[in-house]
Amino acid sequence: MERRLKISPVILAAGKGVRMGSPVPKVMHILSGRPLVGHVVESALSLRSEVPIVVTGFKAREVERALDGTGVRFARQSPQLGTGHALMCVRRRWGRFRRPVLVLLGDVPLVRPETMRRLVDAHLREAPALTVLTAVLDDPGEYGRIVRDAFGRVRAIVEAHEADARQREIREINTGLFVFDPGFLEAHLFRLQRQNRKGEFYLTDLVAVAFEEGRPMGAMPVPDAREVQGINHPLDLQRAHEILRQFTVERLGDSGVLVRDPRSAYVEAGVRVGAGTVLDPNVHLQGRTAVGSRCRVGTGAVIRDSVIADGAEILPYCVIEESRVGAGARVGPFARMRPGSVLEAEVRVGNFVELKKSRLGRGTKAQHLSYLGDATIGPGVNVGAGTITCNYDGHEKHPTVLGADVFVGSDTQFVAPVRVGRGAYIGAGSTITRNVPPGALALSRARQVNVKGWVERKNRAARGRRRKR
Ligand code: UD1
Ligand code: MG
Repeated sequence: MERRLKISPVILAAGKGVRMGSPVPKVMHILSGRPLVGHVVESALSLRSEVPIVVTGFKAREVERALDGTGVRFARQSPQLGTGHALMCVRRRWGRFRRPVLVLLGDVPLVRPETMRRLVDAHLREAPALTVLTAVLDDPGEYGRIVRDAFGRVRAIVEAHEADARQREIREINTGLFVFDPGFLEAHLFRLQRQNRKGEFYLTDLVAVAFEEGRPMGAMPVPDAREVQGINHPLDLQRAHEILRQFTVERLGDSGVLVRDPRSAYVEAGVRVGAGTVLDPNVHLQGRTAVGSRCRVGTGAVIRDSVIADGAEILPYCVIEESRVGAGARVGPFARMRPGSVLEAEVRVGNFVELKKSRLGRGTKAQHLSYLGDATIGPGVNVGAGTITCNYDGHEKHPTVLGADVFVGSDTQFVAPVRVGRGAYIGAGSTITRNVPPGALALSRARQVNVKGWVERKNRAARGRRRKR
């Protein structure tokens, strides 16, 4: 367990997010299944510090409801008069600042907890008035610029839209994350002015205040600028998705997964993959999926909310949802496992096989062109090509049960509900409507008729007809 941090995290999440051009509060936009602010709250909680305080304002109730159950506290900001004003609302609601305040932004969702810790550590070592997390960007865009004096000391933060041409050239930017000394905040927060273009209280103005007071300040550059991507425009959300994907794939690579084409591995943040597993190009692992170790996931696989046990092989172009694949099993290519399907160890499921709410016992094979729905199939069963469970009568679904070691010949239909006893054989081409006892052979097809010389007679008759015409 990580050590506790003696700080108060505050997450600013009250803004409307006008630039997103959407009626949804900005921090409620979804990134990998969770609202932006949810990502920040999770990182803040992992610091194990004091309970984080989230500032809400625009559609406050909606944002607060989304964070229900996380244990965070709230401070309302209404109207929203800027990032400095947001912190004033925290002070008014929750009283004096007693510990260093870590300011996080609800629209900067990808900052790693380690980075937050390093920022706090840097601050606690020097105990300045404030420490800001900065980043150096090739394109500093609309971020606030870090202005330094001739000695390289941080002098001010100037918002991009207030910056002059020379300041706009500055590539070192404000990520929006700060740690503030509580005494400094108590002395200066409520003295912020709003004489600027937007008429807002800018939290960033506290930097110039500290400089004028001759108070030392810290500035820590973030080593990986992808972490501090802010979300202000719809396109930023797309960028954040891509960055989160990269982080996830890098984490897998780091833990011993061989990702054969990191650019096309679409792995969501909640997915786990064991060491020694190979992910081929263009795989999609989604939701709560867990893949074991020494597995192989082939090109084009789409796997959602499923568990793939150790050593299993998913061949190319399989779609697997809410299902389980046992150890050493092999699925595909081109197989579909719909919700509720379970393959025990060493099962083989081949091409164009569709499963739904079906369980296949250890070592069972269904290699070609089958539909198995609502079926419980024992171990050691051979399901022939073209086997179909007729599980639906137009009103209700019915089960098919095949005992251990049953042999199902090709092109068999099971008209459910129906049971086949252990070790029975089903002749190819049968339509099975009644239960089959253990060890029996079931056949339900018309006896074959061979009509000798039929073709020759037919051709002769046809020739005769042509001559008459
Ligand atoms: C802010 C910083 C900028 C920095 C950038 C980093 C200021 C003045 N500017 O700009 O220097 O480079 O973040 O991403 O701080 N919020 C409130 N109440 C308000 C206004 C905003 O809670 O009254 C919240 C928003 O919901 C958002 C966050 O604060 O989560 C940042 O606000 P935003 O308007 O996006 O600021 P930026 O223009 O991005
Ligand atoms: Mg922003």
